[in-house]
Order: sequence, then structure tokens, then C-alpha cells
Amino acid sequence: MTNDIVNLAYIDTIKDCTLLLIHGFPFNSMMWWPQINKLDETARVIAPDLRGFGESETPTDNYSMRVFADDCRALLDSIGAQAPIIVCGLSMGGYIAFEFCRQHPDRVDGLILTATRAAPDAPADQQGRDRAIETVKANGVNVLARGLLSKLFSDHNYEHQRDVVESVQQMMESATEHGVIGALAAMRDRADSRPMLGEIDVPTLIVHGADDKIVPLDEARTMANSIPNSEMVVIPNAGHLPNLEQPAMWNEAVTQFLMHHFLPTPFLADV
Ligand code: MLT
Repeated sequence: MTNDIVNLAYIDTIKDCTLLLIHGFPFNSMMWWPQINKLDETARVIAPDLRGFGESETPTDNYSMRVFADDCRALLDSIGAQAPIIVCGLSMGGYIAFEFCRQHPDRVDGLILTATRAAPDAPADQQGRDRAIETVKANGVNVLARGLLSKLFSDHNYEHQRDVVESVQQMMESATEHGVIGALAAMRDRADSRPMLGEIDVPTLIVHGADDKIVPLDEARTMANSIPNSEMVVIPNAGHLPNLEQPAMWNEAVTQFLMHHFLPTPFLADV
């Protein structure tokens, strides 16, 4: 070997983009299980447990969309996440994704919104959050989880995907009381994200279950129509957890979006 060494340019297939997956309420990073092994072929996948959930620390207070978003930003910085960064949130994770866009626009190159809405809680919904907080304080998390379970799935999937339903129930029941109460208050107090929709200037994908009982499909369509550079994929036979109810379709929609906008290939138009 001579001393005449030059720095070689090289292709490294390891990770060309970072996909941040923000879970919904009251879940944890395990809700992305069908995504982790598939999407990591395309992106570096980061799926945090939000504070109060999963294996993360559980402060007794200090929960808000701003704090959840700042936690995610700090995580990306601490692990040296590289641009392009695509922020993906499901339901409450979508509320956090909007807040992330407001607070940290320098770290958002693409957005994926799934089973979520831009509108804030109406007064009646805010009262519902307060009642839910009282229920959790009086009876614990499990009662809330049991009340929520059937609303998360399409009727068909609730009946026929019993393994998935049971896993989701266990995941919800593992949530901590402080985390659940903190997240309920954070959702109750969240900002209206509708005014910012027209200002979103990164490629955006909306993926929504046709049978979502929590965020009706029409509301997601209205949101998509308000975001300039957006595309929408409706997943048939899926409710509020389309990534779990129809993982292959959800993964395909996201993979196509990532490939098209962030991983252009020189020879192949569609891979
Ligand atoms: C979620 O799935 O994160 C929740 O249903 C969101 C909400 O209650 O608004």
C-alpha cells in the first residue's frame, strides 16, 4: 500500500433517511412492531417510548405536546440522526408531529400523518378528557383501556384479529397512570393545528383507515386537501390502527412515499 491514499466517495446502503415513528395514546413503541423490521430496509427507524409510556421515564407531571416534541428532538440530536428526517405520528403522535413542525422545523424534511386530525379538542371533548382523568385516578388505567379497545379497530378486525386486539389491550394496560393522565391533559390542551396546514412545505403523506371510528375519514380528507404538497392513501378494512390492522398495505404506502421523495434511484422510476 502506498501513501497516495485519496478519500473515496462511496455508496453505503445503510441508512439514507431517518424515520421517526411517534406512537399514539395510550400505546408505546411496540405499536410499530410490524413496521420496524420492514421499514428499516429503507430508513433508519427511530421509535421512541414517549415519557410516561413503555420503558421511558415517567415524571409525575410536565406533560404537554411541546414537551413530547422537545423530548423527540432531544432524542434525535443525542443519537446523531441525519437528514432527511421524516416525522410520522399516529393519532396523538400526529398531534405531537404538528407540534414538532412548529418547534423544530429545521428537523423536518417530510411528514406522515396517520389516523390523526389537525383540529383541537372541542369543549365537549375536553370535558371527556377530564372525566377520563378522573376515571384513571379512581379506577386505574385498565378500565380506560377496556372502554377504548373496540373503538380502535374496524368491527371486522375486532372480531377476526384477536391476537392483535389482545396485544393492543396488553400494551394499553401496561401504561403508567402518570403517563396516561399527563397525555390526556396534553391532548385536552393541544393547539389548533389547522391554521398551519397551508404552511406545511415538506412532502406529506396522510394514511388513514377507511373504517376509523375515532377520526372519521372525511376529516382526514379535509386535512389532506389543506396541505399543499400532500398525498393520501386510504387503507381499506382498517380502523384507527391501520399500521397494525393492515401492516402490509401501510408499510407499502410509506415505503413508496419514502422511495419517491427521499431515496430517488437513478435507474428505476418505481421500485
Ligand atoms: C390516540 O389514538 O392517540 C387517541 O385516540 C387520540 C385521541 O384520543 O385524541
